[in-house]
Amino acid sequence: MNVLVVGNGGREHAIVQALKKSPKVDKIYAMKGNAGIGELAELVDVDYCDIKAVGDWVDMHKDVEYTVVAPDDPLALGLVDELESRGHRTFGPRKNAAIIEASKAFSKELMKKYNIPTAQYETFSEYETAKKYVETCEIPVVLKADGLALGKGVLICMTRDEALDGLKEMMLDKKFGTAGNKVVVEEFLVGPEVSALAFTDGKTIKPMITSCDHKRALDNDQGLNTGGMGTFSPAPFYGEKTEKEVLEKIMLPTIRAMNAEGRTFKGVLYFGLMKTKDGMKVIEYNARFGDPETQVILPMLKTDLMEIFEAITDERLDEVEIEWNDGACVCLVLASGGYPEKYEKGKEITFGDIDDDVILCHAGTAVKDGKVVTSGGRVLGVCARGADIEEARKKVYANAEKIHFDGMYYRKDIGIKYRDIAKE
Ligand code: AMP
Ligand code: GLY
Repeated sequence: MNVLVVGNGGREHAIVQALKKSPKVDKIYAMKGNAGIGELAELVDVDYCDIKAVGDWVDMHKDVEYTVVAPDDPLALGLVDELESRGHRTFGPRKNAAIIEASKAFSKELMKKYNIPTAQYETFSEYETAKKYVETCEIPVVLKADGLALGKGVLICMTRDEALDGLKEMMLDKKFGTAGNKVVVEEFLVGPEVSALAFTDGKTIKPMITSCDHKRALDNDQGLNTGGMGTFSPAPFYGEKTEKEVLEKIMLPTIRAMNAEGRTFKGVLYFGLMKTKDGMKVIEYNARFGDPETQVILPMLKTDLMEIFEAITDERLDEVEIEWNDGACVCLVLASGGYPEKYEKGKEITFGDIDDDVILCHAGTAVKDGKVVTSGGRVLGVCARGADIEEARKKVYANAEKIHFDGMYYRKDIGIKYRDIAKE
């Protein structure tokens, strides 16, 4: 079967690598892909947020039998609906289900209505009313722009002045564009965080191995929020008791809630969770694979990914047994100097002699004049498996040192946090 993968980051490189291993998959196309993906797939230069253009391209390429939509924007814009309406088999939630990520106001209301544990909150669409609330609410407080904002529309405010300034930036100065027309003001929760992703066809939900992201740019969770600077899998504190609690109180109620709302979710549902003193709570939902979570999850997957994708499309996920490797996986993101703010592109990347068992997931890379150069803020994910997180971590850092580009920086502490928290 020939497959089109929509997206161009490290996540998509990991998906393409996993599909390449499937005996069911022949040729892979990637829209738009990057330098690493280009070694495994034919790159297609179409803007994937132009959903009509993507539909036309798939119509014209009759050999493409299946399309995987990975990024949040085309999902929120309805690319899956567009392709399905033209008769193409497609992986990902439809627009009316992708809203679980695209609108924080929607997801908070859903959780309130169906008793799914999450932080207390209020939603505002008027600045003056929001300001009055923030003038007296408990501090610290969390402000969230309603719409998609590249993972940057969340402000953790430790003082009231910060909260009032942040609110003004979101609602009046439109720092996150129209995403800030509505703002969710949320209770500040404390505890370790875990990304619990799951495959679901709307009837059955099958959790993946867990992982932990590092959103801040600098060591010890300092610096600005980014798209994610590294991950490890599994989460050390996530044992059987927690898994059962999450399945019963969060995962199953969520797919039932979406069905009850007439918004059946088919695809990958990502639960961003926090272990609080009152139990596991939802911090956010995403309607897709995480980035860079996917780069540590898929190397741990033993089952054929294409088989899982097709079972979801055909709503027979209950028939597939999903198996995971033992041990652990770590992904370290190498970023351009300046990211997540201004940074330069077009820097040549040299790779050195990378160990055979290390997986490179290209994110912001391109080929220019026969050379691999940087083309984004997050440039590469250096990933490795090991018997445990420490072993994987050592392998990753030893190999990261062999890679160079002007301005390259990375966190030195990926794989360290949460190691002392008891597993339960
Ligand atoms: P989000 O984009 O919703 O994942 O938020 C980004 C990050 O902000 C999360 O990974 C958390 O670390 C933090 N965060 C979000 N909501 C809360 C909250 N209610 N309490 C504490 N931290 C939060
Ligand atoms: N790593 C967080 C996300 O994919 O949204």
